[in-house]
Amino acid sequence: MNSVSNYSSKMKTSFAPSMLKSLSTPFYFYDMELLEQNLSAASTACSKYGYHMHYALKANSNDRILESMLRHGFGADCVSGNEVTRAYDAGFSPSGIAFAGVGKSDEEIRIGLELDIFTFNVESVQELQVIDLLAGEMGKIANIALRINPNVDAKTHHYITTGIEENKFGINQWEFEKVIDTLNSSENLQLKGLHFHIGSQINDMDVFKGLCLRVNEIQVWFLERRIIPEHINLGGGLGIDYGEPDSLPDFDLFFKIFHDNLRLNAKQEVHFELGRALVAQCGSLISKVLYVKEGVKTNFAILDAGMTELIRPALYQAYHKIENLSSSGSPMRYDVVGPICESSDCFGKAIELPETQRGDMIAIRSTGAYGEVMSLGYNLRSKANAYYSDTIKI
Ligand code: LLP
Repeated sequence: MNSVSNYSSKMKTSFAPSMLKSLSTPFYFYDMELLEQNLSAASTACSKYGYHMHYALKANSNDRILESMLRHGFGADCVSGNEVTRAYDAGFSPSGIAFAGVGKSDEEIRIGLELDIFTFNVESVQELQVIDLLAGEMGKIANIALRINPNVDAKTHHYITTGIEENKFGINQWEFEKVIDTLNSSENLQLKGLHFHIGSQINDMDVFKGLCLRVNEIQVWFLERRIIPEHINLGGGLGIDYGEPDSLPDFDLFFKIFHDNLRLNAKQEVHFELGRALVAQCGSLISKVLYVKEGVKTNFAILDAGMTELIRPALYQAYHKIENLSSSGSPMRYDVVGPICESSDCFGKAIELPETQRGDMIAIRSTGAYGEVMSLGYNLRSKANAYYSDTIKI
């Protein structure tokens, strides 16, 4: 991980609690300078090998974030018809929009066909048949990438593991023959690529090496049948360091793994679909302490943000660094919780913070990815605002 300069102190000084206090909490805060720094690093490392990037909108689809992705020339990776539409409306060229997802509805497929998108990343034989039928009705030829389940364990949280046989995702090897027969007998499908996405928040680079070796074997299977797809899409998955929110992912190392281990056939393009690694570290959820209450072992710091604004701790027991931006008191331990009527509405147990009081501003870090996009209306909560460092008024 590469370190970035004093973001934490920037939060404490430039975006001083007094200023943050004037905004109604909770809110999402995005450091656009940090985002730019991170995207430049990703883009440089990716283009070093002539690889192509499609930003995974599911991580964060705010207009400002999409604008930044577009400026870096990235395509889009979408997993719903609405994401395809959002990407198109934001200015992504259809020729750079990949559309994955294990359960695309007919209506969603028609959206992609209408736009002539880069690929449908297809996850089952039946989906191929449906796309063929719908494309025929619309007089279109659909570009297809086969999303393959390579049976490679991403060694991450089991809820975000997608590339082993027991997962619902992708086409397993025992169906390859059937897939080829379907492609051969269809009139409206054109095979363009092979697609792989084995999971998310992967920090063990050996996992990506293992993926490359498996992709090489699968390519041999296709080559033996004289099939050489134009591109290989390796998906996303690169993790970040939630313990060090001031660090950025090592994109050089990530792409080098693929460069060193993938065996490509002539002229094959390589594509990626990173989400988290591009946006996570630029976001924080800013919240206010509503109450401090005595607990059995530790006190509770009860925030005005809850699992409705950031569900990752409740859903995956995920760790996010929590900072008190207002206090420099002596360290104490708190269970940092939200206001929602669920005991899982807890951001962290026995977290060390400077002595904390009602009204203190709290930053929950690394929330740029899978934070705002996963917010809920549960308990009839209002949607929290988003503010950007370059437009916020101090
Ligand atoms: N491509 C496909 C087909 C995907 O399903 C995903 C993520 C990505 C790319 C981007 O993966 P990334 O680079 O962000 O790891 N809500 C979870 C993460 C779910 C990821 C779903 N798919 C979390 O908060 O950890």
